[in-house]
Amino acid sequence: MSLLPERVELKTPEQIAVMRRSGKLLHRVHDMLAEHIRPGITTNELDTLAHDMIRDEGAIPNFLGYQGYPATLCISVNDVVVHGIPDDRPLGEGDIVSIDGGLIVEGWHSDAARTHIVGAARSSADEDLVRITGEALWAGIAALATADRVGRVGAAIEDHVAEAAGETLSHLEGFGGHGIGTAMHQAPDVMNYRTRSRGPKVRPGMCLAIEPMLIQGSGEWELESDDWTVRATGGGRAAHVEHSVAVTSQGLLVLTEGDGGAAELAKRGLTAAPDPLAL
Ligand code: MF3
Ligand code: CO
Repeated sequence: MSLLPERVELKTPEQIAVMRRSGKLLHRVHDMLAEHIRPGITTNELDTLAHDMIRDEGAIPNFLGYQGYPATLCISVNDVVVHGIPDDRPLGEGDIVSIDGGLIVEGWHSDAARTHIVGAARSSADEDLVRITGEALWAGIAALATADRVGRVGAAIEDHVAEAAGETLSHLEGFGGHGIGTAMHQAPDVMNYRTRSRGPKVRPGMCLAIEPMLIQGSGEWELESDDWTVRATGGGRAAHVEHSVAVTSQGLLVLTEGDGGAAELAKRGLTAAPDPLAL
């Protein structure tokens, strides 16, 4: 570990336009997966659907083979928080399913996750978990729009969760978001809560993956023997959502959202950057 912060890769507007193509395709992959989520489908079937669509569109799945990771998606069901490996178990009514995926277009990476409830939720606590995790992501994104330092993102996520959930939800500690661009994981770290570091200065060209991970009740977890699966051990279930976001001189562009973030940013009094794909 170095005492000097790692260099942050700043992207040109042209590079951000390619990252937007990468993110927009990933958004479409998530929309396709959402259509297939129902009781009885296996997570391996969802993984194959994503793999085939990414390949058919001429892109490359970036999780597959990453540090030996064996699949296109991470699919984390119920008490699995993140990095669940797809398998042959069918989804059941009321399961909480977080799907994380990423891909590469012309060398530029995208990374995004959504959490679904299969059919009807089992409890209002499950609905609250999924709703608050989504709100926390947008609270973090909105904070980035006006932030001086990257650390503001985690502070906003922490504050939103504390306000909306009190003690009923915990952050997955030790995991967070990251810079993204010519690699999936780059500097800087983007934590979901306050840390000692205020982080690097926010600058146009910075692209970050923001990804709150929340667990009902206490936040204890363990790593399974497959060396990937992160499972909550306190009896609660978990949710994980993620967007890749670009900071531009004209505002934020949410690379992995269909409208570039325009609608959700507008709800928070912010204007998204013009979408290079719409110009
Ligand atoms: N989106 C995940 C993250 O940023 C990446 C999963 S690790 C992989 O943590 F090996 F599956 F790629
Ligand atoms: Co990520």
